[in-house]
Amino acid sequence: MEFNRSDFPEDFLFGAATAAYQIEGSAHGGAGSCHWDSFAQVPGNVIGAEDGSRACDHYLLWQDDLDLLRDGGMDAYRFSTSWPRVLPEGRGAVNAEGLDFYDRLVDGMLERGLKPFQTLYHWEMPSALADLGGWANPDVHKWFADFVQIITRKIGDRVHATATINEPWCVSFLSHFLGHHAPGLRDIRAAARAMHHVLKAHGAAMEVLRAEGRDNCGIVLNFEASAPVDGAPENIAAAARQDAIFNRWFIEAITQGSYPEEAMEGFAPHMPAGWQDDMALIGQPLDWLGVNYYTRGLLRAAPDMAWPSVEPVEGPLPKTQMGWEIHPQGLRDILVRLSRDYVGDLPMYVTENGMAWDDRVENGTVYDPARVSFVSDHVRAIAEAMEQGANMKGFFYWSLLDNYEWAFGYEKRFGMVHVDYDTMKRTPKTSYHEFAQALAR
Ligand code: FCB
Repeated sequence: MEFNRSDFPEDFLFGAATAAYQIEGSAHGGAGSCHWDSFAQVPGNVIGAEDGSRACDHYLLWQDDLDLLRDGGMDAYRFSTSWPRVLPEGRGAVNAEGLDFYDRLVDGMLERGLKPFQTLYHWEMPSALADLGGWANPDVHKWFADFVQIITRKIGDRVHATATINEPWCVSFLSHFLGHHAPGLRDIRAAARAMHHVLKAHGAAMEVLRAEGRDNCGIVLNFEASAPVDGAPENIAAAARQDAIFNRWFIEAITQGSYPEEAMEGFAPHMPAGWQDDMALIGQPLDWLGVNYYTRGLLRAAPDMAWPSVEPVEGPLPKTQMGWEIHPQGLRDILVRLSRDYVGDLPMYVTENGMAWDDRVENGTVYDPARVSFVSDHVRAIAEAMEQGANMKGFFYWSLLDNYEWAFGYEKRFGMVHVDYDTMKRTPKTSYHEFAQALAR
């Protein structure tokens, strides 16, 4: 890879990320079911109708997986703690085996010199709470806060950093308006509620974390480089609506205490009563911001469609296995924009960035030069953002392992380590080895 660890400040961390449902195997260890288990059982929702019941068997193989992080020279590991593994019904009785698993996992990271970066919600709404409306229910922040307290009392003393929620845009808009992720709703009222409640849950979780004495807390937001397909005024306006919903909604609520006008045009009539009263809770100071970035969105107006009347256009750049354009400059621009317009010199981490490819094992190895270039180019984009003032503190590759890619099942391979889903054998790819070499330089 075309960078060296020594190009970056000493406190800049390199690591890899995963999420519980995507790797652990939810059938192991007494976990309760979550909305992905039932979503996956409906025809057309998930390729191959696959779910996370076995995933990568990380619940059984976690020690080997932590060894991979250590042997790859990584400083930190971003993982998530599953709500229904800890509370199978979402509230009430605790699954002691689940809590013990995370206890051992965190100790295992520390033994290997890895800094634990915990995410409290990476998309597993317990089924029992999904029955009550999940993110659309006005009490969801209270349920979440109780879970946060229980898991924090168990492992909070040893985690290096805690994120409340992973990608609120996906939790709310992608899942309740576009219907692509569980619970698969296509309903603007549910979406507006989820978009507010997920932030309220973030705020409630921050309060609990502070009360428990935790001091390195943040949130992980995803951003895309939203651009109009051309200079036509209607396309520029459509891209601005998309930008407001995707890129501005969450960060403006947290840093400015308000929602963008272009988004409220559509959502205002559907917001939960009294939402304005929650903005102080939502706007508590962060210790850091996590940024997930994969691609850009090229957009045009879709006047025949309901609000926000915008649709994506296929762009001309080289694409990954997901069909996502490879656009590292977009990462630089987002980071610079965030520091300039919203967070100033608040520490930021790229908490996810990576690509899927149709990787195959040949003669015992997996050769993935496209991923080697992808990582080099995005790490360089981070360095450029730092030159332009962004206070970047780390980079986490998504993902350590090939894993359950949500609606795409097991078909899309994002890992630096290949997983054979029949044998569960892990094979580090060329990118893993090259990343390790760059980190050793
Ligand atoms: C992000 C998710 C992560 C993974 C990557 C490819 O949106 O946070 O779980 O699916 O995309």
